[in-house]
Amino acid sequence: MQITTTLTSNPTDDARLAEILANPGFGTNFTDHMFTVEWTPAEGWHNARITPYGPITLDPAAAVLHYAQEIFEGMKAYRHDDGSVWLFRPEANAERMVRSTERLALPALPVEDFVQAVDALVEVDQRWVPANDEGGEKSLYIRPFMFASEKFLGVRPAEHVTFMVIASPAGAYFKGGAKPVNLWLTEEYTRAGRGGMGAAKTGGNYASSLVAQREAYAKGCDQVVFLDAEEGKYVEELGGMNMYFVYDDGSIVTPETGTILEGITRASIIEILGKMGYQVTERKFGIDEWRADVTSGRITEIFACGTAAVVTPVGSLKTADGDSPAPASTELTMKVRAALVDTQFGRAEDTFGWMHKSV
Ligand code: PLP
Ligand code: COI
Repeated sequence: MQITTTLTSNPTDDARLAEILANPGFGTNFTDHMFTVEWTPAEGWHNARITPYGPITLDPAAAVLHYAQEIFEGMKAYRHDDGSVWLFRPEANAERMVRSTERLALPALPVEDFVQAVDALVEVDQRWVPANDEGGEKSLYIRPFMFASEKFLGVRPAEHVTFMVIASPAGAYFKGGAKPVNLWLTEEYTRAGRGGMGAAKTGGNYASSLVAQREAYAKGCDQVVFLDAEEGKYVEELGGMNMYFVYDDGSIVTPETGTILEGITRASIIEILGKMGYQVTERKFGIDEWRADVTSGRITEIFACGTAAVVTPVGSLKTADGDSPAPASTELTMKVRAALVDTQFGRAEDTFGWMHKSV
């Protein structure tokens, strides 16, 4: 892919950048540039460019605004102690985006073009990658996304599509950092059913989660737990994270895939735990098991995982008919978290070959 670059004439000054990187928050400040490439059936992917970050012009009839033909990815760039900047398994994000394009009837972007686009933006905006801080939480969050930009109100797959990459310095997703998060169980709303879009990373799944997420906040909880749409019995995932359940006999369960997002963190943790000598079972996991096994003490730990949330212990579960207490321990959770984060920040040997050097 040939990329043309137009640098901003007005880069963020050093003092302002230092202020942002000292306290990045999540998803509020964006780097100086963005990547764009467009697609039509006749031309394929064309006009790849890096330009100054800024608002885009979209026709009011652009299909994405009406029918939500849109997908996205979430990944991070990590600064190592020697100043170099690395991505974690970028090909996995690229491959998942290809699967999302298939579900949303969008054109596939080749894996190598996806990775090249991310690398190019990270290189141009490398001074936006925070230094490796003590808490080990700061990174550059990268948001690739693709949408139907065709001006057309008929309902059919768009014939003008835009793929972009933007980036935003990030600290901890949850205000409390790696402290246990409390969850709200929604039994009214579901996220995805059989044949639906649950496994695709598409905006519609998040739009449909918001009313339940608002309920979670109102209940004093950080995230919402969704159950399967068919029977309302099995734990699927959180609004933006996958889940793990750790038993006192060393067995570990994570909900099986199909209607959930196949998290790259989730998949990586199966391998990390395997190396630690644990076997993870991917199966349907009942909400009744959660309640009974935490109460009996058989479940010793529960954690949530995802790019934004990293690995975060789960505390109590609030439900319409009573609460489940927090599991007793966070020991293995914190070990898994350390193993993952140490690999990402180059503090541990990358035994799985997951890291990709950008700059
Ligand atoms: N599930 C949902 C609904 C998500 O939004 C995310 C975050 O991307 C995840 C799971 C975790 O996926 P990953 O580990 O690839 O970030
Ligand atoms: C991510 O982890 O990348 C996500 O997309 C989840 C969202 C809650 C920010």
